[in-house]
Amino acid sequence: MGSDKGSPPNLLLKLGANIFLAGILSIPFSVLSAVLAYYILVEALQLPLAVVIGLAPVYYLIAKWCFRLFFLVLARAQLKPVEEGHFEADFRNSNVRNWLVNISLVDAVKYFVGNPPLGQTFLRPSLYKFLGAKLGKTVSLDDVTDPYLLEMEDGAVAGGHSFIVTHISRNGGLYLKKVKIGRNALIGIRSTIMPGVEVGEGAIVAAGSLVPMDAKIPPYTLWSGIPARQVKSLKEEAKDQT
Ligand SMILES: CC(C)(COP(=O)(O)OP(=O)(O)OC[C@H]1O[C@@H](n2cnc3c(N)ncnc32)[C@H](O)[C@@H]1OP(=O)(O)O)[C@@H](O)C(=O)NCCC(=O)NCCS
Repeated sequence: MGSDKGSPPNLLLKLGANIFLAGILSIPFSVLSAVLAYYILVEALQLPLAVVIGLAPVYYLIAKWCFRLFFLVLARAQLKPVEEGHFEADFRNSNVRNWLVNISLVDAVKYFVGNPPLGQTFLRPSLYKFLGAKLGKTVSLDDVTDPYLLEMEDGAVAGGHSFIVTHISRNGGLYLKKVKIGRNALIGIRSTIMPGVEVGEGAIVAAGSLVPMDAKIPPYTLWSGIPARQVKSLKEEAKDQT
């Protein structure tokens, strides 16, 4: 007989309820916009009713954006704190349950809200901050699995199509670990950063590299490859150039 690992949280029900609620909440706003358009265009400006009807795509866009924003706020409100560490895949463990709920909500946000314009480079840090990432000033990043497990200091950049991974399945269980990226560090395009990685101030990870789990990249060093290894010290290079 297998050991009792409890039952997983009902993610479908949770997501379905969020989608339904966000949909319901967005209805009054689209109706209100149509009514306002009628009063302003037809009653006040004496334009033909056809103009209000012709604005149907605009009401659709308003409804769509209300849905996206409500979904985002609802998802954020339900994110639960999770601890770092290695956990057995036991659904009775609150950390495992919380993480499962969180990841499904974050994935749903990426699906519903992650398209432009909210998913665009200049807005993405704000979106991830809202979902719990600790981001300094002028930070830029692409994809992160669990935003609340990411810390990036001022000026840190993770280039296009880089992937910051803060959870993996390991030894049949779940491994959760923060990723920390220091001031002005640069993660090259299409690089993958695995859980537990710490990138020091001013360090560079070359494009297309994979930084293995728990690697500690010292400040002002250049790392490249799969798995990434230190190639050179950028401090020495800077000294050579002076
Ligand atoms: C690694 C990098 C910083 C090197 O730049 P550089 O100092 O100008 O060096 P070079 O292009 O002259 O290459 C130096 C060496 O690194 C190697 N190299 C360069 N890019 C590499 C990469 N992505 N992976 C592995 N090796 C790389 C070169 O082959 C060369 O090797 P060699 O000395 O054995 O001939 C640069 O190639 C890079 O990947 N930058 C990331 C930029 C980026 O993605 N920014 C995000 C924008 S949003």
